[in-house]
Amino acid sequence: MTMHTRTLGSTGPQVSALGLGCMGMSALYGDADRAESIATVHAALEAGVTLLDTGDFYGMGHNELLIGEALRTAPAARREQALVSVKFGALRDPDGGWSGYDGRPAAVKNFAAYSLQRLGVDHIDVYRIARLDPAVPIEETVGAIAELVEKGYVRHVGLSEVGADTIRRAAATAPVSDLQIEYSLISRGIEDEILPTTRELGIGVTAYGVLSRGLISGHFTGDRQLAANDFRAMSPRFQGENLQHNLNLVEALRKIAEQKGTSVAQIAIAWVLSRGDDIVPLVGARTRERLTESLGALDITLDAADLAAIEEAVPAGAAAGERYPAAQMAHLEA
Ligand SMILES: NC(=O)c1ccc[n+]([C@@H]2O[C@H](COP(=O)([O-])OP(=O)(O)OC[C@H]3O[C@@H](n4cnc5c(N)ncnc54)[C@H](OP(=O)(O)O)[C@@H]3O)[C@@H](O)[C@H]2O)c1
Repeated sequence: MTMHTRTLGSTGPQVSALGLGCMGMSALYGDADRAESIATVHAALEAGVTLLDTGDFYGMGHNELLIGEALRTAPAARREQALVSVKFGALRDPDGGWSGYDGRPAAVKNFAAYSLQRLGVDHIDVYRIARLDPAVPIEETVGAIAELVEKGYVRHVGLSEVGADTIRRAAATAPVSDLQIEYSLISRGIEDEILPTTRELGIGVTAYGVLSRGLISGHFTGDRQLAANDFRAMSPRFQGENLQHNLNLVEALRKIAEQKGTSVAQIAIAWVLSRGDDIVPLVGARTRERLTESLGALDITLDAADLAAIEEAVPAGAAAGERYPAAQMAHLEA
């Protein structure tokens, strides 16, 4: 197949129109199969996916080691096309807890040194702090990444889950390729202020949670048992009446998918793709089967009538429940 491409902002790299988010291969969605995870990364590279997204805190280095192994064992031509986007800054403890963010310049360089080693690469393609460190001005954090760019250890500065003001301050400090932020049919908060700001500044968007962590994939069922360490076991959108309400939205979407001969996940991904060429969805597939389904979204064209039917089935703001538990909402600017 020919992979469609998009460019991350006016200064960023050209990447495949869908990126592969590797988080669930190491953390947050219960256990994953390591061999299948690596096979999924290989299949993605083979299909022309060039953007792999990770965070150094996904399984405390586990995800970077996994990507490092997948790259090492991929055919050289595929490995050379791969671009790795890394988030840093989240502080963890040995029992898996989260204890804030560190965006001090010395910490940025320390995080980067370990990531390069774990990934087994000589540079990181896009580097970003996962959440704003409220104790450190964004200019200092971005300035430290810009120094890494100057030294060749990083290619591009990215941002994650920050608001319009921080985006402007960051962009005034160094060229920013993309903002990584949640965006889906049921998480449309960026449309009012953030998206107009990134567009004004020539910054791309790498959208995560396009399936709302599986909730709107069409595969999630109300009786699914989630492990205690699965983020979704604590996510407000997956609880009780909220879950039932949200799954009713999925059933409305399923009718449209059936009429178009696609799957629900493909409709949800195609909708994000339709929101603008500046947006690159990161899909969280961790099996080859899910990956193949996601890639199928690239071949779907949604016309005006389809888009209107989708909006009617899932109007903006239709989801029940916030996108994170309260303690984690506190770290979001957007
Ligand atoms: N910047 C940030 O703050 C931030 C936050 C979260 C994530 N991210 C990044 O964005 C990436 C994507 O986020 P996400 O994993 O939450 O997104 P997602 O694609 O909305 O959700 C992935 C989940 O959806 C399920 N799923 C069902 N059908 C699928 C299909 N066809 N393709 C892919 N997944 C399907 C998977 O299910 P199974 O249970 O069947 O595997 C998986 O648990 C992450 O991997 C990470 O790199 C960034």
